[in-house]
Amino acid sequence: MGEPIVIALDGTSASGKSTNAKLVAKALGYAYVDTGAMYRSLAWHCLEKGVALDNDKAIASLCRRWKTELRNDDGHIRLYVNGYFPEKEIRTAKTSAAVPAVAAVPGVRKWMKAKQRDCAQFGNLVMEGRDIGSNIFPETEYKFYLDASLDERAKRRAADGVDENLAERDKRDSQRAAAPLMIPLGARIINNSEMTAEETSAMIIDEVRERLEAAG
Ligand code: DC
Repeated sequence: MGEPIVIALDGTSASGKSTNAKLVAKALGYAYVDTGAMYRSLAWHCLEKGVALDNDKAIASLCRRWKTELRNDDGHIRLYVNGYFPEKEIRTAKTSAAVPAVAAVPGVRKWMKAKQRDCAQFGNLVMEGRDIGSNIFPETEYKFYLDASLDERAKRRAADGVDENLAERDKRDSQRAAAPLMIPLGARIINNSEMTAEETSAMIIDEVRERLEAAG
């Protein structure tokens, strides 16, 4: 068996990355990795441990020391913290507000890169995030970048019951010094403002299948 295939799915907040990554992973039988959940888990852990969010050194130090383990739960690769996956805790407004500070720390991004590359131990992957095609798996030939209009993305978040300043979040994700959100070189850009998740994922699945066939 050759190297595992990694499909990198990057894009703005609420551009449909999670929904589409799950659909693509299911259709192709690949494992799904939500890298945002890993940053969220560290933000939650910092809050639990009382680490100040403006203290980069303390955040990086906690990140070097926390006890984690990657597990494959039914095709969903998750980072367990002290044997626990904080599924609900990482989606609270408090954790969401804390993540950008944690995700901007260079030491954290270095740790996450190693851990996210480690996910290839589970085989072929669909990995969603902000820097997967540009920084985590720059060598992959399967890169997609999802986007949608701000209006449409705000509607999607509201439909999920989440009230969030998306423009501000995009700005923070794009303007940070360490591994900012960007369109990876060679990525296929899909603006899905007027597309359903089924249409978007079909586009990705078809392209991957075609290219796999061409590659023999
Ligand atoms: O995708 P999400 O909303 O769960 O991401 C949570 C935060 O983590 C968001 O502020 C962007 C950041 N993030 C990141 O910097 N790099 C990634 N690969 C994934 C998420």
